Amino acid sequence: AAPIRVALLGCGTVGTEVVRLIEEQSKDLTARIGAPLEIVGIAVRRPDKHPDIKASLLTTDAQSLVDGDADIVVEVIGGIDPVKGLLVDALRSGKSVVSANKALLAEEGGLLHAAAAESGADLYYEAAVAGAIPILRPLRESMVGDRITRVLGIVNGTTNYILSRMDETGSSFSEALAEATDLGYAEADPTADVDGFDAAAKAAILAALAFHTPVTTDDVYREGISAVTSGDFASARDMGCTIKLLSICERVSDPDNPSEDAVSARVYPAMIPRTHPLASVGDAFNAVFVEAEAAGPLMFYGKGAGGDPTASAVLGDLVAVARNKVATTTGGGVSTYAALPIRPMGKT
Ligand code: NDP
Ligand code: HSE
Repeated sequence: AAPIRVALLGCGTVGTEVVRLIEEQSKDLTARIGAPLEIVGIAVRRPDKHPDIKASLLTTDAQSLVDGDADIVVEVIGGIDPVKGLLVDALRSGKSVVSANKALLAEEGGLLHAAAAESGADLYYEAAVAGAIPILRPLRESMVGDRITRVLGIVNGTTNYILSRMDETGSSFSEALAEATDLGYAEADPTADVDGFDAAAKAAILAALAFHTPVTTDDVYREGISAVTSGDFASARDMGCTIKLLSICERVSDPDNPSEDAVSARVYPAMIPRTHPLASVGDAFNAVFVEAEAAGPLMFYGKGAGGDPTASAVLGDLVAVARNKVATTTGGGVSTYAALPIRPMGKT
């Protein structure tokens, strides 16, 4: 089949790994999609900072890539503007979009989904919540036939690292933050992480998909972790607990109309018993619990940030979207099974 043309917007921490995976796994990806992926352009701010990328692919004009003849736009720039306009244009023109942009999806998910629905384009953003962990497509697809009652998780790696260090070593918030910065977890401006904005954006996305309701970041009650002290950890320890920044999304009884359901989403540092599975989620890892009426409880755990883990989620979406494109253009699809030899080894 003809190559699937991919425009990449952004080539930083995540985008660099997306390019690497597309190049290194080209043969396998072609077999899984049923057509090769071809990167037709990469938008960046400073082309001179990307010596490893073929110069002819680089542009500072993201709009020209969106307006061009790509089949799929992959967005790993981040932030609201100019990305919002770019993605709306891409979707309205029928280009499918894969994005890692939690800030945008949490604020403008309704607008983007409407633009996708208008043209029939796909819109996927697994990487926007909990990095490598597959959680959005399970909520959106695998569990769509069930009735989800609660989604509860640790979805910010930076704050989980800070709180874990405060718990394990007795360090203060500022000492633990300095360590997180040294390790590259916290950004130069850590406000979005430590004040809970990042976790609130992720809670909004989780709640929107779990409860089929357009929840935005502004709808999420939010407290950060900067006021958490070593004394709080000592008190928690005395009670057999630890402290984690939790994102909690629940189906509740509507206080204004108790016979009906409503959605509650909130983010705050909470004491949890040390016996609870979330208590052992250390370092910069993430974990999400989902409770649904028929499925019961499910738990998802893994790396919530970083170039490689996030790129893994982007690639998963890209393959799904590319397969849909191949199916609609050729009227056929590709078998799920690739051809690796099978060698039963017995007990090893
Ligand atoms: P970076 O800051 O590392 O990269 C951003 C990229 O976008 C850079 O290549 C930059 O160009 C380019 N860029 C910025 N503005 C423009 C513009 N106006 N036009 C064209 N290109 C532009 O970000 P990350 O890779 O860390 O994050 C990307 C997205 O992924 C964000 O939405 C983030 O929230 C999300 N994400 C990131 C995770 C992580 O661990 N890093 C985890 C999960 C999600 P240049 O290189 O020239 O400066
Ligand atoms: N700053 C975010 C975190 C990156 O620490 O979890 C992943 O979204």
